[in-house]
Amino acid sequence: MAHLAVNPWIPFAYLVAGVCFILALRGLSSPATSRAGNRYGMFGMTIAVVTTLVTHEIASLPEIIGAIAVGGVIGFITARKIKMTDMPQLVAAFHSLVGLAAVLVGLAAYLNPIAFGIAGADGIIEPQSRVEMGLGIAIGAITFSGSIIAFLKLAGKMSGSPILLPGRHVINLGTLIAILGLVGYFTQDQSQWIIVTITVLSFLIGFLLIVPIGGADMPVVVSMLNSYSGWAAAAMGFTLHNTAMIITGALVGSSGAILSYIMCKAMNRGFLSVIAGGFGADAGAGGGAGGAPKEQRPWKRGSAEDAAFIMKEAENVIIIPGYGMAVAQAQHVLREMGDQLKKHGVNVKYAIHPVAGRMPGHMNVLLAEANVPYDEVFELEDINGEFAQADVAFIIGANDVVNPAARTDKSSPIYGMPVFDVDKAKTVFFIKRSMGGVGYAGVDNDVFYMDQTMMLLADAKKMVEEINKALAD
Ligand code: TAP
Repeated sequence: MAHLAVNPWIPFAYLVAGVCFILALRGLSSPATSRAGNRYGMFGMTIAVVTTLVTHEIASLPEIIGAIAVGGVIGFITARKIKMTDMPQLVAAFHSLVGLAAVLVGLAAYLNPIAFGIAGADGIIEPQSRVEMGLGIAIGAITFSGSIIAFLKLAGKMSGSPILLPGRHVINLGTLIAILGLVGYFTQDQSQWIIVTITVLSFLIGFLLIVPIGGADMPVVVSMLNSYSGWAAAAMGFTLHNTAMIITGALVGSSGAILSYIMCKAMNRGFLSVIAGGFGADAGAGGGAGGAPKEQRPWKRGSAEDAAFIMKEAENVIIIPGYGMAVAQAQHVLREMGDQLKKHGVNVKYAIHPVAGRMPGHMNVLLAEANVPYDEVFELEDINGEFAQADVAFIIGANDVVNPAARTDKSSPIYGMPVFDVDKAKTVFFIKRSMGGVGYAGVDNDVFYMDQTMMLLADAKKMVEEINKALAD
């Protein structure tokens, strides 16, 4: 590849693109600024792509535009068709493509190093390019096979339970050391068998690392694979001497790593043990695989009219949305309910747990889509102290994130996860479809059986529509 490195506009354009990506990440950190963040990201990416296209003699422009058109149409149709609840597996599938792209670019650079500007006329690849190439291919291959397994587990096409190989930690560590050793050896010897072995071993380790991880830890895994895909892109950026790729890859890599860490904290998981694989296996975290509540305890059934009557008279109502709200797509009717209650002088707040739903920010996105005002939406640590003064905790499709077993039951798979103190509210309304259904972790919930709890058993959207009718009467 010929580089017009003398042209000072190229690094400048890539720098502007990099600044746009940083502004995009900053914007995405709050729902109020996320649209602006997305626009910065799109603008930065346009600058990066256009600069690359006009300054590099890569391939013929019609070929590139044709490839972008095919990929763009497939991406557009997939994104339009996908249900919000299937988003985590879509993200995992897309990460696998980033990983595969890194592997293919690395192998292409190996096969034709002169065209990529990383070898002299004799075809001998520069040593530092061999390290970048080896690492890029290895991380890309790990991302590819790991993401495929994460996709299969999240889509329910493979058991969500951890699959534990005997001696897996020794096998994993041995394989990783072998890969690093081969990357080192590759700097001395450019033979094809080395790069092929690195690729094969890396595909294998991606598979081995993710297979033992149980469904409950999958959100952390997806975000970690996101981080890996960033580092693979950054390594390839070095090989291709492309600053934009290095900046973007490093941003994706580090923000993915930070998100993984935040999620580990929110779920009380050890970051290192998730990375090492097989975490959650011993704790029995089920990924929704658990059974129905075993005990038969008395509980109270409420009606839409009960809920409307009590909430109309309340001073403070805290709404806790969860995965079931997303399944029922109840966010719009929920916002209408909030509006009606406000007309009755009720103080309405929405409480969002960091891992409510099935992906980071899941509830924020849905509430923003329904135009719930941002100043009514609160994070766990900002609102948890208010349940003791709340007249009503209104739980809609949430379960694990309000389960007090996380505080008290050391044997529970969710033990240690910070949860909402809904048991402190005067009255609790709990919307779910049946007493048999459990949350993601597959465990029973004491909140169902509390004196102040009324179970509203129905589809979340239908139930809230009925409450809205009753509020309007
Ligand atoms: P969950 O604990 O999964 O509970 C969902 C609840 O919604 C269940 O009680 C279910 O009961 C009910 N439900 C399902 N469909 C419904 C419908 N159409 N109408 C009414 N209710 C419905 O949800 P959560 O509290 O949001 O917790 C999230 C869990 O997912 C955590 O364990 C978390 O670790 C895990 N997780 C999170 C993420 C991220 S990053 N957010 C990713 C993967 C996993 P019924 O079946 O009886 O209706």
